[in-house]
Amino acid sequence: MESPFKAELLKGKVALLTGGASGIGYEISVQLGKHGASVAVMGRRKHVIDSAVEALRSQGVSAIGFEGDVRKRDDAARVLESTVKHFGRLDILVNAAAGNFLVPSEDLSPNGFRTVIDIDAVGTFTMCHEALKYLKKGASGKNSAAGGSIINISATLHYTATWYQIHVSAAKAAVDSITRSLALEWGTDYDIRVNGIAPGPIEDTAGFSKLLPQEMLSKPKEQILVSKLGKKWDIAMAALYLSSDAGKYINGTTLVVDGGEWLTKPAY
Ligand code: HXC
Repeated sequence: MESPFKAELLKGKVALLTGGASGIGYEISVQLGKHGASVAVMGRRKHVIDSAVEALRSQGVSAIGFEGDVRKRDDAARVLESTVKHFGRLDILVNAAAGNFLVPSEDLSPNGFRTVIDIDAVGTFTMCHEALKYLKKGASGKNSAAGGSIINISATLHYTATWYQIHVSAAKAAVDSITRSLALEWGTDYDIRVNGIAPGPIEDTAGFSKLLPQEMLSKPKEQILVSKLGKKWDIAMAALYLSSDAGKYINGTTLVVDGGEWLTKPAY
């Protein structure tokens, strides 16, 4: 689908995306790149990163990939440093890495709960924390006009309650809270904008295919959801809006991009 934004929207900017080599994160990588940003993707699986970088480059995007786990502070610091070394600066951090599985609470071990909190919530904080020195206005390669922008990918699961998602719901509630706290502190002190995106049901994603209970998958989509399914492209357009000057007065918000689906929760 053709973008409504100008191709040079993010010209000269540099973005790092955790989870940027697959799913929603990859589509955000593509669109940031197609709108002029240089893109670094971070992930745990080398072959996934390699093929994402190849695909990005084949679309004319200036791209590089780094292996790393957001649960490891050293990985976060190394990937951020390597990104700035390679591209000379950092303007946009997108925290899209996430872990998930469907499990009733009574069958979820405390370690399983902790694992998802570690990836989604602690990982998001760790990346933001290690990125701060590069995102501040006046940091390497940047002038003193404005700081960078952070986008944390969230969900709508925790607005009410969602079956078999206690771990992810708790993690994404924490992510939304992190978004607001950092927006307040870093927006005031460093002119860094911190926002979130809460995708609804997005087709062709792990979140949609893995997480919908099996019994619902046998029903026609119209019976599952009141609204239409979204596309990864819809999330990427929201990321362009929030990370560009179009969103320069938006700070501390988590934008729900779901066609209004969360209004119907619980849908089943
Ligand atoms: C119950 C499970 C489980 C499952 C893992 N665990 N999978 N418990 N049901 N299906 C438990 C394990 O038993 C263990 O606890 C603990 O979790 C850690 O498991 P590991 O396998 O050692 O962890 P790890 O190898 O680090 O894998 C992390 C992961 C994995 C989260 C478990 O699925 C992952 O990395 N997935 C990433 C890709 C992904 O799922 N992306 C989808 C994101 S979609 P014990 O007690 O046994 O030691 C998304 C959308 C959200 O986020 C919104 C949706 C609408």
